[in-house]
Amino acid sequence: MESWWRDVLDRRPWWMNILMFFCAFMTFVYMPYDLLIKPIAEDHEVWFGIIIRGGAAKFTALLHWAVYGLGLYGFWRMRAWMWPWAALYVAQVAFSMVVYYLVHVGGAPGWLFGIPVTMFFVLIARALWDSQDQFGKRRPLMRDRYGEWALVTGASAGIGTEFARALAREGVSCVLSARRKPRLTELAKELEDHYGVQTKIAVADLSKPTGAERLVESLKDTEISILINNAGLGYAGRFDKLDAARMKQLIQVNCVAPVMLTSALVQGMRERGRGAIVFTSSIAGRQSLPLHGLYSATKAFDSRLGEALWCELREDGIDVLTVEPGPVDTEFVEVAGEINRERGEPPADVVDTAFAALGRQPTVISGWKNYFLANLSRFLPSTAALFVAKSFVEKQTPAELR
Ligand SMILES: NC(=O)c1ccc[n+]([C@@H]2O[C@H](COP(=O)([O-])OP(=O)(O)OC[C@H]3O[C@@H](n4cnc5c(N)ncnc54)[C@H](OP(=O)(O)O)[C@@H]3O)[C@@H](O)[C@H]2O)c1
Repeated sequence: MESWWRDVLDRRPWWMNILMFFCAFMTFVYMPYDLLIKPIAEDHEVWFGIIIRGGAAKFTALLHWAVYGLGLYGFWRMRAWMWPWAALYVAQVAFSMVVYYLVHVGGAPGWLFGIPVTMFFVLIARALWDSQDQFGKRRPLMRDRYGEWALVTGASAGIGTEFARALAREGVSCVLSARRKPRLTELAKELEDHYGVQTKIAVADLSKPTGAERLVESLKDTEISILINNAGLGYAGRFDKLDAARMKQLIQVNCVAPVMLTSALVQGMRERGRGAIVFTSSIAGRQSLPLHGLYSATKAFDSRLGEALWCELREDGIDVLTVEPGPVDTEFVEVAGEINRERGEPPADVVDTAFAALGRQPTVISGWKNYFLANLSRFLPSTAALFVAKSFVEKQTPAELR
């Protein structure tokens, strides 16, 4: 916990930490009081030096609340969009102060308090204006951060192919693994030609009981610093209509393989004091999905494991991330036997989201719409959430499997 706090506070200079805590106070304590408890007659808000009172003030307080909420999030994650908006907002406060004290308070007290208060806000605005490089800092390349070689499972299609491309773009040599060798060979050539990295092909069927162990065996001469546990599949339909052998294979690929690969490769990462492990989970792991129950259970497994490892391994210099996409435009739908599903997010966007979050947080949901969907069930009674989920999944399930 102590090291977590240190990490959080180290992301920005001390004075920005104070601003972040101030935003947290305003978001969670003062603005809720201002909006929900303070009598309307006592309400007043100042924007650009203009004082707004009563019901109108209540209304603009909502905007203030949003500004502080966004400020809190922006400082917490040190988002690039904080520049120049944070500086401009504080400049607006400084302007408001000078107008308020000189025009509305007036006289000696107006000058006495107005000038120092305004200068204080001008200084903060200036410091924020000069801090562009602090926000959205470019992260070091994956190769410099973690090491030379990555293992990408499920590299022959969809999100896995994009993970391999993104790693190669950052100078990382890749072991490409899946069952379809021609696809891997084509990708290996592309990565070598375009990015000048080395590649190895490791054909492996992770649905076999010893599939993961055999893959590890084939890697004994390669020091893997980045493990992308991405191979996975779905299987749509009512549980009693599904084939038991195929369900077992699904558990093997989605759950057993990531456990075995992580267990085998984490030791080397610990010894070297650095490494990265990514689990491609899903927002399906956040909510039990009737008619897709086994899949959502395996993804819940991946998410819970990934999050726990984030906490266990961070002290050893190993970054663990669970990335949770919503619908993605890949072959997944056909493999799972789904129908009528929207095309979804481009797989490259999922990888961008994952790389931006790796080393910063345990889990990331890809896309704001998915973030909303994934958290919707928290606000519903669990039975209602199950029926809502079923109505979604039903439309994507072939009639004979409902
Ligand atoms: N697409 C989505 O909507 C979505 C949403 C959330 C999460 N995800 C997750 O994202 C990950 C990647 O899926 P995707 O969307 O990229 O699907 P995809 O296009 O179908 O790719 C799946 C990959 O997994 C590999 N794979 C499947 N079975 C395997 C086996 N038995 N042994 C070894 N490799 C196997 C496939 O390679 P071979 O067939 O060549 O073996 C392929 O490379 C999965 O874990 C999935 O659960 C997907």
